[in-house]
Amino acid sequence: MSREITITALKYNPSDKNSKPTFAEYKLTETPGMTLYIALTKIKASIDHDLSSDFVCRAGICGACGMVINGKPRLACKTLTSEFKDGKIELLPLPTFKLIKDLSVDTGSWMKNMSIRVNSWIEAKEQIDINKIEKRVEPEVAQEVFELDRCIECGLCVASCSTAIMRKDFVGAVGLNRVARFQIDPHDKRTDSDFYELIGDDEGIFGCMSLLACEDHCPKNLPLQSKIAYMRRKMVKA
Ligand code: SF4
Ligand code: FES
Repeated sequence: MSREITITALKYNPSDKNSKPTFAEYKLTETPGMTLYIALTKIKASIDHDLSSDFVCRAGICGACGMVINGKPRLACKTLTSEFKDGKIELLPLPTFKLIKDLSVDTGSWMKNMSIRVNSWIEAKEQIDINKIEKRVEPEVAQEVFELDRCIECGLCVASCSTAIMRKDFVGAVGLNRVARFQIDPHDKRTDSDFYELIGDDEGIFGCMSLLACEDHCPKNLPLQSKIAYMRRKMVKA
């Protein structure tokens, strides 16, 4: 039998000087397999057209729908309302990122700044001849690169990170994972000293306090703990 659920969401528009943070409460009938994406879409369509939240893929791929759900940073499209036995769900925008409105935050600008900060691209340090056959990469190395490339830039690791809250320029687990991805990629010719120049400080690898909430909340189950430890060892030696 379907039940009634109660969703409470922060409403606030920082670009409207008359707006004050308030909580809005919505009651709706739960349907089988209902995710928070579905619930929020129903609320926006039939109860509150003004409620803002972000979704693109509905499949845990685009990384747009991160929010704090009953105290934990999660993807709304991958969260079933049935997980909450008392039917009460409280939604807040992800902290650390710039609030756009209600549940919508600007992860894009943060990720762009992080990408520039860690030079998030391959530096081959040679002219690539596209007419030549590509260099062979060992399958286990390629597999490791693909594994780390699964990051969807959702920002949940950043939102759950104490250092990111205290240091606004901290590159976060997402940034450290990105550097590890290029460090193991044989196409990238940067040395560990080059990577040290990028992340060998408190806004980089030495800012991490090893609380590791990042790994607890990463929806792609990336090995953030082991990659941060790996990069820290490399940077200490560099
Ligand atoms: S590392 Fe995980 S939690 Fe962090 S941005 Fe990437 S997918 Fe999201
Ligand atoms: S809507 Fe794309 S990850 Fe949730």
